[in-house]
Amino acid sequence: MLYAECLSVSADNHLMIGSHDAVALAKEYGTPLYVLDEDQMRRNCREYRQTLADCYAGESMALFASKALCTLHTARVAAEEGLGADAVSGGEVYTLLKAGFPMEKVFFHGNCKTPEEIALAMDAGVGFFVVDNREELDRVNAIAGEKGVVQKILFRVKPGVDCHTHEYIKTGQIDSKFGVALETGEALEIHRRAAGLPNVRVEGVHCHIGSQIFEIEPFCEAIHRMMALMAELRDSLGMRTRILNLGGGFGIRYDAKDDPPLLADYIRRVADTVKSEAERLALPLPCLMFEPGRAIVGNAGVTLYTVGSVKTIPGIRTYVAVDGGMADNPRYILYGAKHPALIADRAGDAPEGSVTIAGKCCESGDLIAEDVPLPRAKAGDILAVLVTGAYHYSMASNYNRLPRPAMVALRGNEKKVIVRRETYDDLISHDVP
Ligand code: LLP
Repeated sequence: MLYAECLSVSADNHLMIGSHDAVALAKEYGTPLYVLDEDQMRRNCREYRQTLADCYAGESMALFASKALCTLHTARVAAEEGLGADAVSGGEVYTLLKAGFPMEKVFFHGNCKTPEEIALAMDAGVGFFVVDNREELDRVNAIAGEKGVVQKILFRVKPGVDCHTHEYIKTGQIDSKFGVALETGEALEIHRRAAGLPNVRVEGVHCHIGSQIFEIEPFCEAIHRMMALMAELRDSLGMRTRILNLGGGFGIRYDAKDDPPLLADYIRRVADTVKSEAERLALPLPCLMFEPGRAIVGNAGVTLYTVGSVKTIPGIRTYVAVDGGMADNPRYILYGAKHPALIADRAGDAPEGSVTIAGKCCESGDLIAEDVPLPRAKAGDILAVLVTGAYHYSMASNYNRLPRPAMVALRGNEKKVIVRRETYDDLISHDVP
């Protein structure tokens, strides 16, 4: 199928996820239900690692961006597949720690880390801090000093590169809340300051230009600028930086019209650019890192819903309402994101028209997708929304006091609940009576 290797249609016309019938999963675990094809996630991890090893002569590492899907189980899968991790909050660091993740392979991000989060991450043995700003640099240096450690750091740099993606997920340009700017001299200045601090050691440079990017050129442009910075750090500060971390952002297919580059083409272009820049600037080949989130789990996720009603407004549109919505999938309301959907009970049937899939939240904008070609839907059908592995569970809320769905991981013929469904008691458990 177009969106993931793990998807197919069975002889009795049901959607299959790996070797599991989606309709049977919905019956067994209830809906809404997040399904994670763990084999697909593992394949994605392996493809990233293998492609990097094949295309790049120097050292390299892929870090799983935890924010895309942060659970104990997914952290363990990423660790087993040899990936490092990016964490962006105390909660993500804590999850990785409790999962038994090798903490020396963790990069701690964030533009406003609190002193408590910094202390927690240092106590947990987080390998690298990606420092965002000057106040944080001083804070990290002071807390490391109190703990008697020298913390390895990289700075988050805005390389001044624009890319074509949603405004909300662009981060490489100068007008961004993340990081220090290259073109104003802010980046050089903060490195100079760090060089004089006793409890931090700069190990490399970091940038992340945005998310869901289909073009390779902006990444190459970022490499030119970041490696020029590495050379400048060497020449003006005598500072040797060995890591070039280019962040995440590799785009995936959400719509039949989406045409992302092949991972191998992307990595090859990036690796070649790094190599030629290293030669030109007489730099050793850096340890090349990426932080893919969406590319690791996006197409491994499917959300299953039960259709509650079908409302046709003549001449206007048909609403197919399901038992979830913006609380479990906020990507439409936030970004107008597109997601493919199909009726899992009749997965191979030809569409009979286009519908709008509506959620059950008390909000008109609570849609899951518009203009979705579907066969005629009816109450009781199982509706599958595809490519929901990244930024769905991790951005889910309890809006309208909806309990968050369960998540089931599928591996071969095995299946396992990795996040249990919230109960009404969970919902009131933090309220003080
Ligand atoms: N590294 C850093 C520093 C990041 O900020 C991000 C994503 C990533 C890596 C992973 O990016 P990816 O490979 O997944 O594109 N909620 C939005 C996406 C926000 C991305 C935030 N940062 C969405 O649903 O599209």
